[in-house]
Order: sequence, then C-alpha cells, then structure tokens
Amino acid sequence: MTTDGFHDGSAIELTPAASFTIDELVAIYNQTRIDYIVPMPMNSQRLAEYIRLYDVNLDASFVAKADGDILGLAMLGVRRDHAWVTRLGVLPNRRKGGIGRALMIAMVEAARQHWLKYVQLEVILNNTPAHKLFLALGFEETNQLLVMRRPPGPVKQPAVGSIEWLDWSQLQRLVRQQPQGVPWTNQADSYDHMAMVEGCRINLADGGRGWCIFRRQPLVLSHIRLHTEAGDPNAVGSALLAHVHQRHSRLDTQAENIRCDDPHLVAYEQHGYIEAFQRIEMLLNLVANERVNKNPPQSAS
Ligand SMILES: CC(C)(COP(=O)(O)OP(=O)(O)OC[C@H]1O[C@@H](n2cnc3c(N)ncnc32)[C@H](O)[C@@H]1OP(=O)(O)O)[C@@H](O)C(=O)NCCC(=O)NCCS
Repeated sequence: MTTDGFHDGSAIELTPAASFTIDELVAIYNQTRIDYIVPMPMNSQRLAEYIRLYDVNLDASFVAKADGDILGLAMLGVRRDHAWVTRLGVLPNRRKGGIGRALMIAMVEAARQHWLKYVQLEVILNNTPAHKLFLALGFEETNQLLVMRRPPGPVKQPAVGSIEWLDWSQLQRLVRQQPQGVPWTNQADSYDHMAMVEGCRINLADGGRGWCIFRRQPLVLSHIRLHTEAGDPNAVGSALLAHVHQRHSRLDTQAENIRCDDPHLVAYEQHGYIEAFQRIEMLLNLVANERVNKNPPQSAS
C-alpha cells in the first residue's frame, strides 16, 4: 500500500507487519522508541509474547518505509468488535513528516474493513505529539489510567477475612463477568493467553466480599485487578491485597492501567503502591464516525 506521501512529496509505503520477522519488528520498534518518555525496550521473546497476549493482528499492523528505509511501525490488536492501537512509533529523525498519521489511518481503515465498532488506545499523559495526532483523527478521551508500582516487602495491613484461592476456571468465570470498558491489557482475553494467573476470593466478617486476579511472573506480579461484590471497596481491596502480598512478599508488583476512578485506589495506597505515570485512554467510535480525517473538509473559498 502506498499513501499520498510525506510533507516533502516522497511516497510512504505501508507494508503489513506480517511480512516481517519478529526480530525485524523488534529492531524497528526499539529504534522508534529510543527517546520515549518511559523507556520500554523489548526483545524478540517479549514482543512475540506481547503479540500473543494482546491478540495483535499482524495483517492489520503496518511498517512504514520510504526509498527502502524502514521509518515507523504500528500494531493493531483485534478482539471481536473492537481494536486496540499499540507500539506506534516513528524514527526520531523522520517525525513530523506524516508517517504517524499514515500508519494510524491505515490501521483504522483495516478496523473498518473488519466491521469493528471502535478502536481504543492509551497515550501517556504529556505525550503531546501522539495525543494531538489521535485527537486530530477523531479519538476522544474516555478515561485516565494509572500505572503504579509496589516494591517487594512485608504487608502493612492485616490479612483479615476468609480467603479462598481459586482455580483457573473459577477465575475465568469471574473475570468474564466484568462490565465493558476494561482497558485492553486487563481484559478477560488477555488472561486467557497468560500462564501463571492466580486469584482469590475474600469474605469479610462485616459481609464485604470480592475477588482479585493477577499474573505471577518469576520476579513480578502484574495485571492485577480487584473487584468488590459487596461492602466497602477499601476494606475488601485492602484485605485482598494483604493476602496477595503476604503470599508473594518477595515480588515486585506492577499495576498497569488502573482507572483513576477505581474504588480501590485507597487500598492500593495503603499497601505501598506508588504512581509511576498516567495514561489517557482514548476511543474512536467507528459506527458514529464513518470517516476518519482522511480527507479533512475543505474550507469554502
Ligand atoms: C507520535 C508519533 C508516532 C507521531 O508520528 P509523526 O510521524 O511525527 O506524526 P505526523 O507527522 O504524521 O503528524 C500527524 C499529527 O500529529 C500531531 N503531531 C505530530 N508531532 C507533533 C509535535 N511534535 N507536536 C504537536 N503535534 C504533533 C499533529 O497533529 C500532526 O498533524 P499536523 O502535521 O497537521 O500538525 C511520533 O511522534 C513518535 O514516534 N513518538 C514516539 C513514540 C510515541 O510516542 N508513540 C505513541 C505512543 S501512544
């Protein structure tokens, strides 16, 4: 696919990412992110896992080239009626030439061709170039998300309540009951593709009850989600976290994409979670928005 081209007139060629090896994709990705606000380098193993975990469709993801040089990359995750933009980046010395916009338009068109209803993404707060690009294409802000970290260490709050550790089928049932609007990384489909998922259910003496799910990797807990079914979310969340961190006191924890209005934020704070950075979640509604700003309306002369 060749697009209209750079601001300087030369053509941008977009090739489906499926035509590249994982090693090639990881090399492109790392070059485009060399100066990124939050360093997130990848290796081939991590990228391959990322593609599997988050249902990245490499036929609907693109690599941008011009005159044979690779200049940028963007990936699209696809699940049922919606898609997710990820790994977007352009080489630092080739930015502001229309490549990011071309990659985004190609992916949104691919989403449209799959009859998807909406495209979602997250952008780090204060990443002005990306934020402006998404706004210009019609994406709207939906949520503010927190990325938090808890260093390993003893539990600060008492591990009260009656705890039951759940097997995978029980967890799968719980996580599928969640309402729509869960960030992509923490959707039920993501857990389906993970190994070493753990979780528990708690009942408190005052009738409070809830559950949590997380991924246990060798050195880190991640993908943590808390849910309160009854009672005070702070009490339920705090009791759940106490049991989790008592069980895994030597592991670092990364809580990614927790909504700023999550009712368990105080519980996270009580257990020593610290905000690392924030993201803005954005959504492009493909049903309401028939055309992306591919051909912006001409002003009347
Ligand atoms: C975000 C990024 C992909 C944009 O790519 P790009 O090729 O430079 O973008 P384009 O030239 O296509 O610009 C398209 C629009 O984006 C916005 N934009 C791009 N760079 C901008 C900047 N430095 N400041 C403000 N707005 C900017 C503008 O709205 C621009 O439209 P305009 O040219 O009509 O003003 C690029 O800056 C990048 O790779 N950044 C590092 C990685 C990253 O942040 N990825 C996104 C993660 S969510």
